[in-house]
Amino acid sequence: MPNPVAVVTGASKGIGRAVALRLATTHDIVALARSDEELESLAQQIERGGGSCRPRVVDITNPKAVASALAGIHADVLVNNAGVGTLKPFMELTRDEWTQMVNVNFNALYDVTRALLPSMIARKSGHVVNIGSIAGRSAFAGGACYAATKHAVVAFSECLMLELRDSGIKVSVVNPGSVATSFSSAADASWKLSPDNVALVVQRVIDTPPNMLVHSVEVRTLTVPKKKE
Ligand SMILES: NC(=O)c1ccc[n+]([C@@H]2O[C@H](COP(=O)([O-])OP(=O)(O)OC[C@H]3O[C@@H](n4cnc5c(N)ncnc54)[C@H](OP(=O)(O)O)[C@@H]3O)[C@@H](O)[C@H]2O)c1
Repeated sequence: MPNPVAVVTGASKGIGRAVALRLATTHDIVALARSDEELESLAQQIERGGGSCRPRVVDITNPKAVASALAGIHADVLVNNAGVGTLKPFMELTRDEWTQMVNVNFNALYDVTRALLPSMIARKSGHVVNIGSIAGRSAFAGGACYAATKHAVVAFSECLMLELRDSGIKVSVVNPGSVATSFSSAADASWKLSPDNVALVVQRVIDTPPNMLVHSVEVRTLTVPKKKE
């Protein structure tokens, strides 16, 4: 039996890379991101461990490039992870920063998911895992666009789950708190979740009995930094 195939977006670093590395123990990986060298090093790391990884260098905000990168791929698992966040007051946010967040965090879900769902629907099997955020249910100053895109990810995930569950396809959303990645430039990241903490959750969410769906999970650190006196 060939391994199932998992497509991971934003696999060059951070949470996506950790997800790709974890799922590579049980899945053949198709890894998407823009950074050629980082995807190549991921593929080499996975292959050194005995797995398989096909890197696809693609900007997921380019619908034609996404369609071409995913043509002929029959995914059993899709992890929509790629995301960007420019966190600053609304009046300082440029139109380009707004558009980029909406395009990467939300609009790309259309193109990537549409490219892979037909084959899942035909096979009546598959699992789409979207990486949201706790910003997808709570507000914070500086998050006007980012939090809005993550609210959209949560709503998209629940609607898609309701549409697809009778077709044998699972849809989940994993909402992490703070994770130590290059996403944030905080000086001390020691208290945050690790990317592999989130990858472990994705792995567990996928590994459930056929009749059971874990639709939504929130992942938090226990080591919250003390507020300065
Ligand atoms: N870190 C946190 O505290 C945190 C908390 C909650 C949720 N999240 C969510 O977790 C996800 C991953 O974030 P992270 O922390 O791992 O961030 P990260 O380390 O900055 O990684 C982001 C990934 O997205 C990819 N990406 C960005 N723009 C892209 C584009 N236009 N086309 C293709 N790939 C693109 C990047 O690859 P390239 O640059 O190589 O293209 C990279 O692999 C995001 O959806 C984020 O919103 C993060």
